[in-house]
Amino acid sequence: MKITLSVIKADVGGYVGHSSTHPEVLAKAQELLEKAKNDGLLVDFHVTRCGDDLQLIMIHQQGENNDRIHKMAWDTFMECTQVAKKLKLHGAGQDMLADAFSGNVKGMGPGVAEMEFNERESEPVVIFMADKTSAGAWNKPLYKIFADPFNTIGLVIAENMHNGFSFELHDVKKAKKIVLNAPEDIYDMLVFMGAPSRFAVKAVRHRDTGEIVSVSSTQRLSHIAGRYVGKDDPVCIVRCQGQFPAVGEVLEPFTHPHLVAGWMRGSHHGPLMPCPVAQANPSRFDGPPRVIALGFQLANGKLIGPRDMFDDPAFDHARAQSNQIADYMRAHGPFEPHRLHLEEMEYTTLPAVMKKLGSRFEEIKD
Ligand code: 13P
Ligand code: 13P
Ligand code: MG
Ligand code: MG
Repeated sequence: MKITLSVIKADVGGYVGHSSTHPEVLAKAQELLEKAKNDGLLVDFHVTRCGDDLQLIMIHQQGENNDRIHKMAWDTFMECTQVAKKLKLHGAGQDMLADAFSGNVKGMGPGVAEMEFNERESEPVVIFMADKTSAGAWNKPLYKIFADPFNTIGLVIAENMHNGFSFELHDVKKAKKIVLNAPEDIYDMLVFMGAPSRFAVKAVRHRDTGEIVSVSSTQRLSHIAGRYVGKDDPVCIVRCQGQFPAVGEVLEPFTHPHLVAGWMRGSHHGPLMPCPVAQANPSRFDGPPRVIALGFQLANGKLIGPRDMFDDPAFDHARAQSNQIADYMRAHGPFEPHRLHLEEMEYTTLPAVMKKLGSRFEEIKD
């Protein structure tokens, strides 16, 4: 059965501040997607949230970039924004950057990850959703999952993935893309992937078959809007098992809470803390950044699940380490590298301060 898995997300308002999502917003989204399912547009769906980001996980047969699916998601976010406005939630409609829908939510504010594929005999998928960070946050885990044999032993001992995976990298500032192959291109690949503020992995494919295995949202709201409106708080879909990495190989990289950009005012680095959905309420200094992982088995387009994959004491050490790293990074206060590099700041008073003090700068003569 050919199906499309679409994850479309937006921050339509935070409760309280930017920390979480109000139950009435979730209930509205649930009601509208239920209607879309009854109308036959969706085969199945699951509504959740990570921090203040509302997540619509949808299975349908309309293909990628489909007008009807995107419009339904857009309309859902708009109606949820009305609920957020009624409750005066924080930043109601934060990611809804256009007044009217024009065919596709890409470039309008919401984040999108979609993939169309033939459902296998067993089709386990894991959907990662993050808050207080940007799409480049997936670069390191995706490298570990699909290119590092110290993480994914299947690359070494499973014949059906021994020829590796190809990575589609996007230059999010220049709007260009390149495909590189692991293992032979890994040194070149890491030149780009190691710079996640600029390059983000959009898709990963199985080289022997060309099958899609992973897709991420790579929209950068700050670039879309031309001004600060929130980090994009990305999502990433990964198909697992068989010719793809095992579920455990896909989750393993998150035992290392790597530093990502997007904490407090979208302007600080902090550790990416893996946590269950119930704990994805970034509150300390609006963080630290969170990632949740929902696992599903697909059955003829039905989402069997979710299983809350980070709801496992095996991730307790990563959470404890995240808190230690958070203390260490916070102690830097307004200094880099806790604070982002000047060009990466979502907010800055630099132009105003320069205007005020510019005339007091003197040439250094020797
Ligand atoms: P969101 O992008 O999740 O709305 O967070 C904004 C922010 O920077 C909070 O400090
Ligand atoms: P706002 O109060 O405008 O949301 O700004 C602070 C913040 O948290 C933004 O990230
Ligand atoms: Mg917000
Ligand atoms: Mg958010």
